[in-house]
Amino acid sequence: MNILVIGSGGREHALAWKIAQSPFVDTVWSAPGSVAMDQIGPCFDVKPDDIDGMERLALQLEPDLIVIGPEAPLALGLADLLRARGFDVFGPSAEAAKLEASKGYSKDRMAKYGVPTARYGRFTGAGEAKAFLDTLDAPYVLKADGLAGGKGVVIAATREEADAEVAEMLSGKFGDASAELVIEEFMEGEEASVFVITDGTNILTLPAAQDHKRIGDGDTGPNTGGMGAYAPAPVMTPELMAEVEERVTRPMLDGMAEDGAPYRGVLYIGLMITPEGPKVVEFNCRFGDPECQVLMMQMSADIVPALLAASTGGMSQSEFSRLLPVETPRPCVTVVMASPGYPAKAETGSVIRNVKAASEHEGVMIFHAGTGVNADGELIATGGRVLNVTAVGDTLKDAVERAYGAVDAIDWPEGVCRRDIAWRAL
Ligand code: AMP
Ligand code: GLY
Repeated sequence: MNILVIGSGGREHALAWKIAQSPFVDTVWSAPGSVAMDQIGPCFDVKPDDIDGMERLALQLEPDLIVIGPEAPLALGLADLLRARGFDVFGPSAEAAKLEASKGYSKDRMAKYGVPTARYGRFTGAGEAKAFLDTLDAPYVLKADGLAGGKGVVIAATREEADAEVAEMLSGKFGDASAELVIEEFMEGEEASVFVITDGTNILTLPAAQDHKRIGDGDTGPNTGGMGAYAPAPVMTPELMAEVEERVTRPMLDGMAEDGAPYRGVLYIGLMITPEGPKVVEFNCRFGDPECQVLMMQMSADIVPALLAASTGGMSQSEFSRLLPVETPRPCVTVVMASPGYPAKAETGSVIRNVKAASEHEGVMIFHAGTGVNADGELIATGGRVLNVTAVGDTLKDAVERAYGAVDAIDWPEGVCRRDIAWRAL
């Protein structure tokens, strides 16, 4: 079979790489893909949010399965459009993708289905927002309702800051995305992410991961898309995983299906492990980036049957569960190497050498997030997050040592990375 992967980042490189290993797969196409994905199969220059262009490409290629990586095309209804054209698509409908695209919608669903999360309110006016802030204690959590590239959440330490932030957000700090705000109670605890592959009814839960959102060591500095990740995350004990399945995954999927918006694809459950148990911080409608790189690298089973079954549905839970046998996951870590200046303003264009030799280290795979080739044929940085140096090991410590061994073998003086990925578990 032939599979089309939509997207161009490290997440999509990892998906294409994993899919290409399947004995069922002949060709992996990518759109738009990247210089690294081009090594796996042909790439087509269509932007992920060019919905009509993607439809035309699908009609031209006739893939047996289309895997949509990023949230933007999902929120725009690409999965609906392609399904209406008869394609099997891994990714939720636009309605189900609102779990990520509208934080207010997501909170309303959680409230309706009794899923544990922070107390919240939705606001379009400053007066009501401030009245709700009166009922909370510092720090205050303010969220733009819409997609804001991972930057739409502000944690205000004081009431003065919170009031100022309410005014700024409502007057367009994040454009249309912050025309409406969600304000919520601050939750204390450790964060973890659980990824569930689902056909809307059946579930396959992958190992829990931990992301490192801040740019600096020790979780300091501004938020980024993620500077590294590892899995499995020991904070998510088997008991907690079972609790999440019973109190979060099951009620969300059953509720969405009953309300006519079955969720198909991968549900990313961002959790806070609070003293009262796990509570949902957010849902995303796609794999995490860079968490996906870790999950694909550590999975020994073929992922394609699960992706296909999640797209088509119609199985029993026992048939679905057999598609991705439960394995004891090998510890895996990914270290993001970024351009200097990221996340504020990345300075791109610097030359990166020795990536191939570094990727030949034992247990190491280097996924490309933002690379290109210059006129001299040299590999260069073209984005903020550039390389995802990923390694498995017998222990997490082994994996971390291997990943940093490969990082150190890469000749890219301008590149920056955190030196403490997986510190919580070590
Ligand atoms: P989100 O985009 O909703 O995941 O929020 C980004 C980050 O803000 C999360 O990863 C948390 O670190 C933090 N955050 C969001 N909501 C809360 C909350 N209610 N309490 C504490 N931290 C939060
Ligand atoms: N790494 C966080 C995300 O993908 O949203």
